[in-house]
Amino acid sequence: MLLEIEGGRPLKGEAELSRAKNAALPLLASSLLTEEEVTIRELPGIRDVDNMLCLLETLGATVTREGRCASVRAVALDLSGDSYPFVRAMRASVLALGPLLARLGEARLALPGGCPIGSRPIDLHIKGLKAMGACIRLEDGELKAVAPGGLTGANIYLDLPSVGATENLMMAACLAKGETRIENAAREPEIVNLAQLLTRMGASVHGAGESSLRVEGRPRLHGAQIEPIPDRIEAGTLLLMTAACRGDVLLRGAKEEHLSAVIQKAQECGAYVLPDAAGLRVRGGPLRQTDLRTQGYPGFPTDLQAPMMALLCRAQGSSILVESVFENRFQHAAELRRMGAQITVRGQAAVVRGVRRLYGTRVAAGDLRAGAALILAGLCADGRTVVEGMEHVDRGYEALDEKLRRLGAKLRRREATE
Ligand code: EPZ
Repeated sequence: MLLEIEGGRPLKGEAELSRAKNAALPLLASSLLTEEEVTIRELPGIRDVDNMLCLLETLGATVTREGRCASVRAVALDLSGDSYPFVRAMRASVLALGPLLARLGEARLALPGGCPIGSRPIDLHIKGLKAMGACIRLEDGELKAVAPGGLTGANIYLDLPSVGATENLMMAACLAKGETRIENAAREPEIVNLAQLLTRMGASVHGAGESSLRVEGRPRLHGAQIEPIPDRIEAGTLLLMTAACRGDVLLRGAKEEHLSAVIQKAQECGAYVLPDAAGLRVRGGPLRQTDLRTQGYPGFPTDLQAPMMALLCRAQGSSILVESVFENRFQHAAELRRMGAQITVRGQAAVVRGVRRLYGTRVAAGDLRAGAALILAGLCADGRTVVEGMEHVDRGYEALDEKLRRLGAKLRRREATE
């Protein structure tokens, strides 16, 4: 699937944010912790949500969907299904591992392979579950985990503040015997959202959003309902697109407290970002250079490094970006160079020399955030840009092209064969 973009038009108007992909996926996974009904409302209409719901059904859960609402009842779980297609398509499938192990005392899940942004091991997930008493081995590309007698609370130190490991271990700890402490836990708002649901399900979780998390295990959890938080990465993406296109947009539903690092950097680059009762108002201005390093929350999010790089291609002066979260997340630089950008990558650092113009051409997205970066570049380039790989973008952005069209962008989706 391709997206054709006629560049040079400012974005103006209002955009309604979707709820967060990276909140919805762990919220859905936590339904495996109980046999009672867990309902997630306001789900974003994205492929990763469909994938997660299919994975839950493959594991034996009953899923009923009504519009943006999904209810899951994981009564008779079944580990005999093939999880590889889901794990291959979506690494967040690994978030089923902790809940299955905690609920059943066993789990079987394909080991995730690599992906375009790095090797993304899950050693911290495995190390934490082993500390809680699980025996985990790799057989035929599948993780086979058993915890005879169930999991036991443990003190776990994460070598890296891994979002997924924090979520997996927090969920597993809810049904473990005794208390679990997770030190150097990730602090993302999506983790706080997950802790809210777990608490509604009867779990005892303290310190979510801080780097020291404590969970007192319970014998069982009950059903509950929740909505994912607004998607701060979608909000940040639209904020940077507006700043790059000298637009004037109200981002309805955006939470300033989830975006402080991004707002700071956008203001350094010459944008005006003003909190509004309904969200955030963003106005673009002449673009200036800035430097940044990606970090875990509340630092500048790695998921916005690619769109930020695209914006800085048009800023006056040179900028230095350091990607300190993933080891291979600069692949969009080569595609931006095809549009006339001047970017030098050296290991984890990229130097972007601002240019007066970018030129539309055909480019290819390797992952969803690189896709967002290329769309941003196409919006502010001269002429027509054709972005290949919209199937990646659709995994995590709900109707991004439609939202941009409503803001005045001139773009058209088409099949490659058209
Ligand atoms: C989550 O991925 C997000 N995905 C990612 O969003 C996001 O980029 C990432 O967190 C960082 O914020 C979801 O929430 C579904 P990590 P996750 O574990 O949990 C290393 C997007 O575009 N690591 O925090 O996989 C890892 O290699 C996606 O929406 C280990 O070494 O990220 C990476 O370098 C992309 N061992 C770093 O930690 C482990 O066991 C951070 O990874 C786990 C992670």
